[in-house]
Amino acid sequence: MASERKFSRILTELDSRRSRHLYRHTRVADSPQQPHMTIDGKPMLVFCSNDYLGLANHPDMIRAFQQAANTYGVGSGAAHLVNGHSRPHQQLEEALAEFTGRERALLFSTGYMANLGVANALLASRHDVVYADRLNHASLVDAGLLAGAKLVRYPHNDTSSLGKRLKETPPNLPLSGEGQEGSAARTRLIMTDGVFSMDGDVAPVRELARLAREHDAWLMVDDAHGIGVLGETGAGLLEAEGLNQMDVPILMGTLGKALGTAGAFVAGSHDLIEYLIQTARTWIYTTAQPPAVAAATLASLHLVQTESWRREHLQVLIRQFRQGAEQLGLPLMASDTPIQPILVGSSEQAMAMSSRLEKSGILVTAIRPPTVPADTARLRVTLSAAHTVEDVERLLEALGRNPS
Ligand SMILES: Cc1ncc(COP(=O)(O)O)c(C=O)c1O
Repeated sequence: MASERKFSRILTELDSRRSRHLYRHTRVADSPQQPHMTIDGKPMLVFCSNDYLGLANHPDMIRAFQQAANTYGVGSGAAHLVNGHSRPHQQLEEALAEFTGRERALLFSTGYMANLGVANALLASRHDVVYADRLNHASLVDAGLLAGAKLVRYPHNDTSSLGKRLKETPPNLPLSGEGQEGSAARTRLIMTDGVFSMDGDVAPVRELARLAREHDAWLMVDDAHGIGVLGETGAGLLEAEGLNQMDVPILMGTLGKALGTAGAFVAGSHDLIEYLIQTARTWIYTTAQPPAVAAATLASLHLVQTESWRREHLQVLIRQFRQGAEQLGLPLMASDTPIQPILVGSSEQAMAMSSRLEKSGILVTAIRPPTVPADTARLRVTLSAAHTVEDVERLLEALGRNPS
């Protein structure tokens, strides 16, 4: 029967994933997001969260969330353009613009949607081009694919290759064919992770900004893993590199990682934000995030800016982890950020290593293809300002007992 054929295809795919050690499943947490959690009923010391500053369970944010829920209720009720845009949303957009040194900011319900929305709004035809780093996050890859433009992927952080590709696809597209003469302008958009989500290294954003200016292309930096963590005030990689809105016209940041809540924003010029309000489908046609989430994020933004000790403590933990892991001879990657992957190679080995750690009460999930390229499965260790030096010692001891 046709319906049985349909099911047999998905069952075959599930079996194939199991046999290649690529099967994924969720675990259930019964505690807040913090280093010591109860997961699947067991106590676990966790080194895989994106809550880099340890804010997801901060009392100031819980209080702000509760107060806003008392005032605004739970649901936002509608999209921003209908009547779902409440005072905390407005205040958060203004605060994010100021925080990032941009004219305006626009809140999206998730980072995935922000990336899709920007690409879809800016790119209009199959002649337009997205240039994407090979190791970009899946949401940026999908943004390029779903926008219907030509997707050009360049080798990781290789700006000379990107330069060549920009020259090969010039801004003016020659028109040929019956009734067509001359040339048409095409939109070109360079999209990159700021901090690469599975590798922890950073994009050469100054050189990317220079190339974008030279070739009159848009540059969009997805700083999901840099916001809160990098820069003097935590405004991210672009603050650390001194790049303003003219250098990087489109900055995307997420709120569900270092800021400890949920959602995302795009920051840029007044005109860019007005254009997104008119055209970004993943912003227009979706319910605004709950106002209480925006209120909690405002509280988090205050902590990020005023309590720099979290970033300083993170740096101490990063150094401690790297020194200890190097002494153990573990294959670390070139990263100075809280994302400190241990490159294992085979998915089977990565799964075995992760499950040995789990037996010692430590959770570090194995990241496998297609999230990362074939044969580069890894344990994505992430550090949080909420970890103590003793927590990191415990991880190093367990890694020492259970080498790859
Ligand atoms: C680089 C990067 N961009 C975008 C996203 C998506 O953000 P969100 O989780 O808010 O959808 C993620 C991770 O989730 C990410 O790592």
